Amino acid sequence: MKALVIYYSKKGTTRQFAYEIDKYLKNSNLDSRIISIYDVHTDDIKQADIVLIGCWTNGLFLFLQHPDNIWKKYAKQFPELKDKKVGFFTTYLLATGSMFSQMQRVLKEKLSGTVTLKLKSKNGKLSEDNKNLIKQFLS
Ligand SMILES: Cc1cc2nc3c(=O)[nH]c(=O)nc-3n(C[C@H](O)[C@H](O)[C@H](O)COP(=O)(O)O)c2cc1C
Repeated sequence: MKALVIYYSKKGTTRQFAYEIDKYLKNSNLDSRIISIYDVHTDDIKQADIVLIGCWTNGLFLFLQHPDNIWKKYAKQFPELKDKKVGFFTTYLLATGSMFSQMQRVLKEKLSGTVTLKLKSKNGKLSEDNKNLIKQFLS
């Protein structure tokens, strides 16, 4: 199975998180690849069975969290994801609040339903909880 980990990072934390997710997927025997949202092509996404999409948390720290406008712009250009297993991930400092629901909203037309895998990290590390969530998602 092919997996693609697409990230948008400003300062590097979300890239680090994407790297750790990709490493975990490779260790789970998946053919996984990490790529920046700037570099991903429609065909890369079309060829993947599993697509994990990440963005840093933007907002007013305690509320009104949302993906950054650049992420929105690129995400709106993604092809249909309905035949794929899709997950979201983010990094943050205080609270992710409405981040995942806003990511879902942007991609709504392309998804077959509500995305259930929602990974978050404050420091870009993949916690044991995150690993368990990925394990469940893959099973
Ligand atoms: C303009 C701005 C708004 C932010 N808003 C939030 C927020 O609402 N909640 C939160 O927990 N972190 C917030 N953060 C912190 C970032 O989400 C966090 O530092 C993230 O890990 C940065 O990812 P990056 O290193 O990949 O760019 C904000 C950071 C910036 C620069």
